[in-house]
Amino acid sequence: MKRLAGFNLNSLILIIFIGVAHSSETCFKDKCRHLSNNENKYSKERNLKFAEYEAVIKAAKKEYKPCSKTVCRCFSEIISEDLKPFNNGIDAHTINNIKSKGTKYQIINHRLYRDKDCLFPARCSGIEHFLLRLKHKLNNTEFIVNTRDWPQVYQHQRPQGPVFSFSKTNDYSDIMYPAWAFWEGGPAITLYPKGIGRWDNLSKLIGKIANETSWNDKISKAFFRGSRTSSERDNLILLSRDNPTLIDAQYTKNQAWKSDADTLHAPPAIEVSFEDHCKYKYLFNFIGVAASFRFKHILLCKSLVFHVGNDWIEFFYPFLKPWIHYVPVDRDATKENIMELIQFFDQHQSLAQEIANNGYNFIWNNIQLKYIECYWLNLIKKYTKLLSFEPKLEADLIEIVGNN
Ligand SMILES: *[C@@H]1O[C@H](CO)[C@@H](O)[C@H](O)[C@H]1NC(C)=O
Ligand SMILES: *[C@@H]1O[C@H](CO)[C@@H](O)[C@H](O)[C@H]1NC(C)=O
Ligand SMILES: *[C@@H]1O[C@H](CO)[C@@H](O)[C@H](O)[C@H]1NC(C)=O
Repeated sequence: MKRLAGFNLNSLILIIFIGVAHSSETCFKDKCRHLSNNENKYSKERNLKFAEYEAVIKAAKKEYKPCSKTVCRCFSEIISEDLKPFNNGIDAHTINNIKSKGTKYQIINHRLYRDKDCLFPARCSGIEHFLLRLKHKLNNTEFIVNTRDWPQVYQHQRPQGPVFSFSKTNDYSDIMYPAWAFWEGGPAITLYPKGIGRWDNLSKLIGKIANETSWNDKISKAFFRGSRTSSERDNLILLSRDNPTLIDAQYTKNQAWKSDADTLHAPPAIEVSFEDHCKYKYLFNFIGVAASFRFKHILLCKSLVFHVGNDWIEFFYPFLKPWIHYVPVDRDATKENIMELIQFFDQHQSLAQEIANNGYNFIWNNIQLKYIECYWLNLIKKYTKLLSFEPKLEADLIEIVGNN
């Protein structure tokens, strides 16, 4: 979200530029005469860049105001933001028009109902875990839940209407809900054949390992393992092949893998558990098909997370600030840009550790199942208040009872 950056980067860089240009001149006259022209040019540019990063971090810290309300009230701001397009009310006709974008749910007399078929049953089940716990507290309502990765309501296309999706960009008016994967239905890979596990269990496991691994015991490398879901990941993989001492980034197989060409002309690497990611100081997060589930897991490692691209979000991303909780990387960053950033933090270990700890603290303190449940409750309460009709049970829906 654009408004989060807040400070004027250009004027900041200009000030730094003047400052550093002056000091490297002094350096040139006094001590640095022995450097060859090329080396000197390189180190001048690098010093300039490093001073720029330091200034940006300083400004971000000055600007940063954590939300001072309770966790659930803070998150509630996102719900209000997402519901804004519907503040004039939601009628039955509007819902009917966008029904095909997802699975229809109804809560009638504190019982939960759903379309008979769900595109991804495990995902629906991961969602229903929360709905079943909340149905007793909710008025009659109905809503459409999209269980695909991709959001459904592109702002410049009709029909428009309320559709719940787990992730989106500013181009979509989908209403965000906490992903099914907090409970079940997460991506299944060889390491997690039934899908990455329940967030309560997994977060405790990763958080414990993070606490037990001291920064200085971590391997001083940037680390990435994942499949080639988007070519945006290629630069880091290629960099790693040229700089294996600084970066270990490799592609793993995905279901579509046919030959080494699908892993950028190298044999696929084996998958690495989240716990083992925590052994490395620097971790990279890229978008997958939409926002990547991995982000919250690797932030819990107390490693420094480099987050590439900022347009795809889940409901909690707006509270994570660049340079405070993670290092932002442009999605079109060059190999040189990426290299410079890693080198900067390699030489500024206390800054790296500080951001890494902030990332851990944010996730550990705020992303807990009780707050996820509270998010769902507020989401459905606020949404239901906007309905301009009294939902009536539809005969072709099935009741979901569950076992909790
Ligand atoms: C998660 O932990 C709970 C106990 O806290 C346990 O009952 C459950 O089986 C675990 N589930 C998974 C999927 O690991
Ligand atoms: C890790 O340590 C912090 C600070 O001591 C503590 O608050 C947190 O509960 C610990 N996390 C886990 C997973 O034990
Ligand atoms: C249910 O509806 C009543 C009447 O409109 C309202 O006062 C109450 O706040 C609603 N409850 C919830 C949980 O939204």
